[in-house]
Amino acid sequence: MKKIAVFTSGGDSPGMNACIRAVVRTGIYHDLEVVGILQGYEGMIDGDFIPMDRKSVANIINRGGTILKTARSPRFLEPEGRKAAYQQLKKAGIEGVIAIGGDGTFTGARVFSEICEIPIVGCPGTIDNDLIGTDYTIGYDTAINTVMEAVDKIRDTAESHNRLFFVEVMGRDAGLIALRSGIAVGAEDIFIPETKTDLDRLINRLAACRKDKSSKIIIVAEGDEAGGAFEIADKVKKALPEYDTRVTILGHIQRGGNPTCMDRVNSSRMGFAAVEALMAGKRNVMIGIMNNKVTHTPFENATKHLQEIYPDYLRMMEILSL
Ligand code: F6P
Repeated sequence: MKKIAVFTSGGDSPGMNACIRAVVRTGIYHDLEVVGILQGYEGMIDGDFIPMDRKSVANIINRGGTILKTARSPRFLEPEGRKAAYQQLKKAGIEGVIAIGGDGTFTGARVFSEICEIPIVGCPGTIDNDLIGTDYTIGYDTAINTVMEAVDKIRDTAESHNRLFFVEVMGRDAGLIALRSGIAVGAEDIFIPETKTDLDRLINRLAACRKDKSSKIIIVAEGDEAGGAFEIADKVKKALPEYDTRVTILGHIQRGGNPTCMDRVNSSRMGFAAVEALMAGKRNVMIGIMNNKVTHTPFENATKHLQEIYPDYLRMMEILSL
């Protein structure tokens, strides 16, 4: 193998830059030529490739976002788009590809592998942590720490005013951001898409402690089937008008910021392992870290299975909160 490419795709996540840096520098160490593909699969289709050298990744380990830019690519969903992408890779003489992204990225890579003979290895880059085959995805730790810091601030003002806050966090399909940050901030309840939300139960629990003069924080994952934080807050307000209720949507603040130490180290380990996996002849696998060991999970096993930790977490949250 003489030439490899690296790209980032889907929603960005803090630590993607650290991963790019590790891929480029490990590749160069092994005498590989490394190119960056701009804007994910979009850039692959358009042949938007740039040469990467050691200097091109200097001082990015600490930066959120992705220097290679990212995109969600509707064209890559079509067979013509994938064919064009394969032609571009072949034309550029690329013999291995490293994809940094999430569920959509690896689902795309799996379908692509039906026509693309060039091996692809993935690194899990998403704040959602919704992939099987790794304990933590790149960016998850930073995102939950961002949520925790923000909600700690909300708790201060909520406590001063004895208010009930609904805080909406990211997670269109996955509730792991809500779950872990909710535990960390001592949330009074956590609503996630994977479990059925019982609003009557929340209302009863809140009614039972309405005289208790203190703050209450309910964390809502944006994809919860009962609606977003505004919708849920409206319903609760109608049932319990005596509560002084407010809503905060944290939004894309969760996707940015300097990666935590854990994200920088995990991203570096995964980028490093991805190059070595390609050189060892692996293909269509996602690198992960489980129990502190590097793992290789086939794309089809990594996507669309959610971890089964919810019942334990939710039970504990209930016992520790209201
Ligand atoms: O990166 C994953 C994610 O953060 C989801 O939790 C969220 O719903 C989605 O991205 C939003 O992404 P965008 O605004 O880029 O479409």
